Amino acid sequence: MEDILDLDRYPLDREGSPEWDRLVEQSIAALAADGMFNLEGFLRPGIAEQAVREIKPVMDTRSHVHKRLHNIYFKPSIPELAPDHPALRKVETISHTVCADQIPGSTVMAIYEYEPLVRFLAATMGKARLHVMQDPLARANVMAYRAGEALNWHFDRSEFTTTLLLQQAERGGDLEYRTDLRSDEDANYDGVARLLEGRDPEARVLRMKPGTLNVFRGKNTAHRVTTVEGDRERMIAVFSYYEKPGVMFSDEERVGFYGRAA
Ligand SMILES: [Fe+2]
Repeated sequence: MEDILDLDRYPLDREGSPEWDRLVEQSIAALAADGMFNLEGFLRPGIAEQAVREIKPVMDTRSHVHKRLHNIYFKPSIPELAPDHPALRKVETISHTVCADQIPGSTVMAIYEYEPLVRFLAATMGKARLHVMQDPLARANVMAYRAGEALNWHFDRSEFTTTLLLQQAERGGDLEYRTDLRSDEDANYDGVARLLEGRDPEARVLRMKPGTLNVFRGKNTAHRVTTVEGDRERMIAVFSYYEKPGVMFSDEERVGFYGRAA
């Protein structure tokens, strides 16, 4: 794994050492302050390109294209809101997904299953343990966004999201986010409406570099990936870990996300 990950800079393989402790502390501090941390240069030079070369043929021929109009909640309605409330404004998301079962033996899957990474992530998220997912499709996905496509405004279902950027678009494809737009106590529908109208001065844009590992706390921080421009698709791996072992999606969830049950 030392040929794939920069373990000199990010010593995941030396759990309990002072440098491992320091990295965990810095990551926890960044999560508290910014709602995310980024390990830039997590992949050795050339590895992101290698991962893209492995996935591209599958992406080009067998990825699941998912196009939908949705609101920021990914729900048909919100009981306390009128259907025409501006917080329910519809946006469009288009993505191309390659599932874990389509890329066995790939660099991306080796990184996903690398036990020191799973242990490091658990420590940064304050969990006793994390486990890889058992679901053959959902455990790790690679998403591509092409010219004119975007992952539009949403809140995440899970507390943390772990991604690894493999290829950046020529323009666009940036992470735009509004930290703590809502809280568990306050849905802040007027603030949501303001953001969707492009009138929130606290929205920030982050341009990530390929090879960066990002951990993001997206449950109450609204975020999107801006519309991709240019010929090069944005390609990003999304890793799913759970506190309990053996987690599977239902057939309905698999069909909903990937267009097939198995
Ligand atoms: Fe998200």
